Amino acid sequence: MASSSCCLVALFFAIATVAAHGQSPQAGFISIDCGNSKSDYVDHSTNLAYVADDRFIDVGSDFYIQSNYINSSVPTLQLNLRSFPDGLRNCYTLQPVPQNSTYLVRATFMYGNYDGKNSQIQFDLHIGVNHWKTMTISDPSAIYTAEALSLATANSTSVCLVNTGGGTPFISSLELRPFENGDYGEYVNASQSVVLVTRRNFGASDTVRFPDDPYDRVWSPYMDPSWSTLSSTLEVNNSGNMFEPPSAVMQSAVTPASGSQLAFSWDSVSPDDELYAVLHFAELQKLTGNSTRVFNITRNGDPRFQWYTPPYLSADGIHSTVPFEGYSRYEYVLNATSDSTLPPIINAFEVYSLMQLTQAATDSGDVDAMMAIKSRYQLKRNWMGDPCAPKAYVWDGLNCSYNTDPPRITNINLTSRGLTGEIYISFAMLEALKYLDLSHNNFSGAIPDFLGSLSSLIVLDLSFNNLTGTVPDSLENLVSLQILNLAGNNFNGSVPEKLCKRSDAGLLTLSSVWAATSCGNIGSCGMEHQKAARSDV
Ligand SMILES: *[C@@H]1O[C@H](CO)[C@@H](O)[C@H](O)[C@H]1NC(C)=O
Ligand SMILES: *[C@@H]1O[C@H](CO)[C@@H](O)[C@H](O)[C@H]1NC(C)=O
Ligand SMILES: *[C@@H]1O[C@H](CO)[C@@H](O)[C@H](O)[C@H]1NC(C)=O
Ligand SMILES: *[C@@H]1O[C@H](CO)[C@@H](O)[C@H](O)[C@H]1NC(C)=O
Ligand SMILES: *[C@@H]1O[C@H](CO)[C@@H](O)[C@H](O)[C@H]1NC(C)=O
Ligand SMILES: *[C@@H]1O[C@H](CO)[C@@H](O)[C@H](O)[C@H]1NC(C)=O
Ligand SMILES: *[C@@H]1O[C@H](CO)[C@@H](O)[C@H](O)[C@H]1NC(C)=O
Ligand SMILES: *[C@@H]1O[C@H](CO)[C@@H](O)[C@H](O)[C@H]1NC(C)=O
Ligand SMILES: *[C@@H]1O[C@H](CO)[C@@H](O)[C@H](O)[C@H]1NC(C)=O
Ligand SMILES: *[C@@H]1O[C@H](CO)[C@@H](O)[C@H](O)[C@H]1NC(C)=O
Ligand SMILES: *[C@@H]1O[C@H](CO)[C@@H](O)[C@H](O)[C@H]1NC(C)=O
Ligand SMILES: *[C@@H]1O[C@H](CO)[C@@H](O)[C@H](O)[C@H]1NC(C)=O
Repeated sequence: MASSSCCLVALFFAIATVAAHGQSPQAGFISIDCGNSKSDYVDHSTNLAYVADDRFIDVGSDFYIQSNYINSSVPTLQLNLRSFPDGLRNCYTLQPVPQNSTYLVRATFMYGNYDGKNSQIQFDLHIGVNHWKTMTISDPSAIYTAEALSLATANSTSVCLVNTGGGTPFISSLELRPFENGDYGEYVNASQSVVLVTRRNFGASDTVRFPDDPYDRVWSPYMDPSWSTLSSTLEVNNSGNMFEPPSAVMQSAVTPASGSQLAFSWDSVSPDDELYAVLHFAELQKLTGNSTRVFNITRNGDPRFQWYTPPYLSADGIHSTVPFEGYSRYEYVLNATSDSTLPPIINAFEVYSLMQLTQAATDSGDVDAMMAIKSRYQLKRNWMGDPCAPKAYVWDGLNCSYNTDPPRITNINLTSRGLTGEIYISFAMLEALKYLDLSHNNFSGAIPDFLGSLSSLIVLDLSFNNLTGTVPDSLENLVSLQILNLAGNNFNGSVPEKLCKRSDAGLLTLSSVWAATSCGNIGSCGMEHQKAARSDV
């Protein structure tokens, strides 16, 4: 029995080292009203500013829910939505996110029969490259929510809606809330995130969120006829609880209306879901004389904690340290011990399910480079989310290598995309690139020196652009190069000597070089070439 409580830990109000909140708690919030590309506004219940979504996504169509679903209880946030009839995967890019910190991401969905089809819709949500949740939308007037806690490994993240054949994906709102460094760190790291199952505030009459909760977690009221409410107007100190439940949540609690036993339960989506539970306790009554409140905690009959006494006006947490699974319904029972004079209490609880991050995201240097290229040339199509992963959704015009961990971009084919301007420096950051085809565009300026740093390049096709100047000597560094196509530009000068030699030796196909200055005619390259040719005879 003693060992069975190994997986729950009580956090008494000792060791309280709390990072100073240097910035306003709202700093870093991203609050997006999806499908509203017209105006930003302040939400009256939270005083948070919501912004139009067109700066986070460039695909999809805006819609309003049907008017018969609109009444005063439907929040403004749900009135419009963005839907994605085209493409298998459509993503929002959220930036900036605080690198190496946990963030909360929450999406809401209200169908409101916006398309007049009275459909039931099912689609998947991904965070970055990993499956987050399958959304099943069956009630057109309900607001569905998905929420997860995740570690930011880069300074941006993406939320993707994936069409799995169950109808057109759509989304009503998207919110990102950064936590302090280290929060929920036991549950969230580079290899795992957690998905919210439920978060409840016992004995409350209203939902608590921002500003009472500086992280804008949503704490829903939870009451049962067999419970009675305890509350306090005094602040509950949460500095000893690493989950930092807000005082407004901890100031209400429930106790059994009669008897000495309190039970609450929830359903899991699947018995295979691996869950973590966090129970929050604070004593709200000043216990006088010899009165005591001591109880045992069991989960589905299994003892989890014995002889527990909540501290007075201080938030304490009992949380799972390893995930549990195996049931479709879970029940906690708090049972007063025989010598306790008072029945058990509980103030709040949270349940999360484990989300293993098994998919590897593309090399972050490659991602940064592609994001910069996308933005520089205003490229759209399916250029959203991770460039290479999952494999089924690789960006148009890219090929990746998955033999490496992380995956790397090996090919870029941007032929005939109507691209203009100079060749951008970010191409040089794609260190694993083997094939670069920028042909049949309107690139102008000179061939940049930095292309010579792409040491794995096998094919470089710059043909039929508006490039000028000389061919840089740095291209001689491309020792693996087998095809160099420079046709249809306005170069002058000559081709660098070593390239000519390799062409001569049949190691490099040097295509349609400009008329007057190609290898073998004039210039030093030509001379070398002729010498080489003679000595070959
Ligand atoms: C909260 O508790 C900590 C110790 O756990 C203490 O240092 C701090 O002063 C308390 N804050 C308030 C407002 O009571
Ligand atoms: C994100 O990180 C990249 C490099 O990793 C950097 O170039 C870029 O400026 C950063 N963006 C923000 C918004 O911090
Ligand atoms: C994030 O953590 C990684 C590895 O621990 C480190 O290399 C990187 O500098 C950190 N980034 C920031 C912004 O703290
Ligand atoms: C308001 O609309 C919601 C969602 O359509 C519905 O559930 C609710 O009953 C409506 N309330 C009123 C007062 O009409
Ligand atoms: C993440 O946390 C889990 C559970 O605590 C642990 O098993 C895993 O090794 C951690 N992974 C990393 C990369 O820290
Ligand atoms: C509490 O103490 C009072 C007197 O101090 C005593 O009468 C009473 O029986 C005690 N109650 C319990 C449950 O021990
Ligand atoms: C609660 O305690 C009572 C005795 O005080 C016991 O009969 C009952 O089985 C316990 N319930 C649970 C769920 O442990
Ligand atoms: C509480 O747990 C203790 C220690 O396991 C046990 O002796 C006691 O019977 C339990 N009481 C109840 C009411 O479950
Ligand atoms: C890149 O991928 C496309 C589509 O999968 C394929 O047709 C093409 O042959 C690949 N190119 C190279 C050079 O591997
Ligand atoms: C780029 O794509 C075009 C047509 O899609 C194809 O003809 C060309 O061979 C590709 N280039 C490379 C380097 O694979
Ligand atoms: C290049 O630009 C010119 C003038 O804007 C246009 O007529 C031509 O079609 C473009 N060529 C390519 C390959 O995009
Ligand atoms: C080609 O480049 C020249 C100068 O470099 C510029 O004047 C011209 O407009 C460009 N043509 C196209 C079609 O972009």
